[in-house]
Amino acid sequence: MFSSRQLLTPLSVLLFVTLLPLAAHGYFQVTAPTKGIEWANGQTYPVTWTKGLLDGVDFVDLELTRMSTDGLILVARDVPSQTGGLNIALNSVPAGDDYFLLVLNSTHGIMYATSQPFSIVNSGSSNSSVQPIASKPTVTLSGGPNPTAQFAATFGSSSGALRAWHPKPAAVLSACFISLAMFAGAVAVL
Ligand SMILES: *[C@@H]1O[C@H](CO)[C@@H](O)[C@H](O)[C@H]1NC(C)=O
Ligand SMILES: *[C@@H]1O[C@H](CO)[C@@H](O)[C@H](O)[C@H]1NC(C)=O
Repeated sequence: MFSSRQLLTPLSVLLFVTLLPLAAHGYFQVTAPTKGIEWANGQTYPVTWTKGLLDGVDFVDLELTRMSTDGLILVARDVPSQTGGLNIALNSVPAGDDYFLLVLNSTHGIMYATSQPFSIVNSGSSNSSVQPIASKPTVTLSGGPNPTAQFAATFGSSSGALRAWHPKPAAVLSACFISLAMFAGAVAVL
């Protein structure tokens, strides 16, 4: 089987992004952060998305990851998808220029969308044209990926009772499987 999930996360993200137009999840798009934008530690930034009205995706989980290194930062669980966004406050998140947000159901690993790649920088200039959305909740992220960490915030109706956390390798594997299945489908079409 797969020897290292270090390869799996970037691979499945890459396949997903490449094959997104073939996905069967309807229309779900992350509209912020935009490609190449810089987020600075110590600042708060908006995350927004749009989706099909009747796609049956009522809640989503958000995770932050990078192409070049392993590990997930678990941002928010069970976010009601019709809220269309939230804010993320950064606190000592490792700098990098290859971050992505994943919008998924982390229980079974089905990915609905990824953001464009963007950067996190250690400090500096806030981007005055990118302001947090006052009407949305803010989730604070502290530090880098931590395998034992829970989601930084849990929304939805189950917020009082955190459900058991299932191991991520299953989720990553199934995301990878879906990507591979789509890839196989694409090859079959060609
Ligand atoms: C600041 O935000 C604007 C608008 O989204 C964007 O075009 C620009 O690239 C951003 N600057 C940085 C340094 O991220
Ligand atoms: C993920 O899927 C499971 C099983 O279908 C469902 O119970 C759960 O509510 C979903 N989570 C989200 C965030 O949609």
